Amino acid sequence: MRAFRASLLRFADDASAVFDEDGLLVVGPDAQGRRVVRAAGSYQALAGNFPGVAVEHLPCRIIAPGFIDLHIHFPQLDVIGSPAPGLLPWLENYTFPHESKFSDEAYAGELATFFVDELLRHGVTSALTFATSHPSSVNALMTEAQGRGMRMIAGKVLQDRHSPDGVRDQTEQSLVDTEALIQRWHGNGRLGYAITPRFAPSCTEAQLRGAGELAARYPDVWIQSHVAENLDEIAWARELFPASRSYLSIYDDFGLMRERAIYAHCIHFDDEDRALMRSTGAAAAVSPTSNLFLGSGFFDYEGARRIGFKHGLASDVGGGTSFSPFHTMLAAYYVGREGQTKPGVSLSPQNLWWQHTAGAAQALGLDGVVGNLQPGCEADFIVIDPKATPLLARKTAQAANLDELLFSLIVLGDDRAIERAVIAG
Ligand code: GUN
Ligand code: ZN
Repeated sequence: MRAFRASLLRFADDASAVFDEDGLLVVGPDAQGRRVVRAAGSYQALAGNFPGVAVEHLPCRIIAPGFIDLHIHFPQLDVIGSPAPGLLPWLENYTFPHESKFSDEAYAGELATFFVDELLRHGVTSALTFATSHPSSVNALMTEAQGRGMRMIAGKVLQDRHSPDGVRDQTEQSLVDTEALIQRWHGNGRLGYAITPRFAPSCTEAQLRGAGELAARYPDVWIQSHVAENLDEIAWARELFPASRSYLSIYDDFGLMRERAIYAHCIHFDDEDRALMRSTGAAAAVSPTSNLFLGSGFFDYEGARRIGFKHGLASDVGGGTSFSPFHTMLAAYYVGREGQTKPGVSLSPQNLWWQHTAGAAQALGLDGVVGNLQPGCEADFIVIDPKATPLLARKTAQAANLDELLFSLIVLGDDRAIERAVIAG
């Protein structure tokens, strides 16, 4: 066992933040040998219970749960900042040509190393990740994540139509490859597999049906896709699947909505879509920097809360513009506030932070496993330096309460504030 003394942030079951100004985090193996949080709370209350345990003192630092990115594309590192008039030309002109390079295993391996380094530098300790349609891209990422001991979930993209040579896969083979990857990686250490239809327009009915059959055979495997991001994309999906009630219900019609199914964007929904998210237990990966960059629209937080479906935060790099959870939380605040196209709401800093940690874990069906620092959680955490820049130091020193402290970090923070990311401490 070992312990860390610092300010300590974690979340209660009702999603409110719990903050110990002078806290203690004790980590060590559980009965199965997993490195977990053994105790968390105020230093004064806990210190006497752990005689002989070495305590690392981190004055003026905040220990917080490692961030979880609910939706990111590992092969789109170099696509960040590619301008386009909207999603579909962005995919065609930048994303597909770039992803075609990942048939080269050595290239995929290099990028996987850079990607994981970049996640950790930004304090992201777990992610639900798209690879490319090439199975070797999944192997590259999983191997890299396993080497670092990270809880990573990823999948080979399914796209057997409306995709150029180099990324288009073949229906039968794509399903055989997916099953082989599930068997190789799902539950292998901390790794998990996600069945990954890119989006309905890129998949034939046969491929979606096959994906749904795999999902039924492997009920604890994740599912990830995109939905209702952009108006042109929605019109296209409706045209291709006229029998489905809405774009979202295409996925339901093929058995792809359930607990552990995570849909990126979920912007242009009606209340029936929201009710379908709720009744199936699927979750939204809200991707605000991507939605602002690609001009896709604004996630309706009021609708999500009113109907009550699960949602959490995601970078969606490379549609998204930053790996930084601080930037994503700030963009989510802007998106929430927008009140011209949907009701504007002011998301609290505690809620924004929850959406990127314990809330994201809940969306993944991993509450109590990651995204929090309550006893029993896997000990993935970050050390934040609230004085990392002159302005941050000045502003956080004036914070009169936890909300002011968290908001200062959300608005002014970036990778400079992440001093350390600890995996399975
Ligand atoms: N829809 C289908 N593919 C993609 C992708 O790579 N990024 C985003 N943002 N939307 C998509
Ligand atoms: Zn995406």
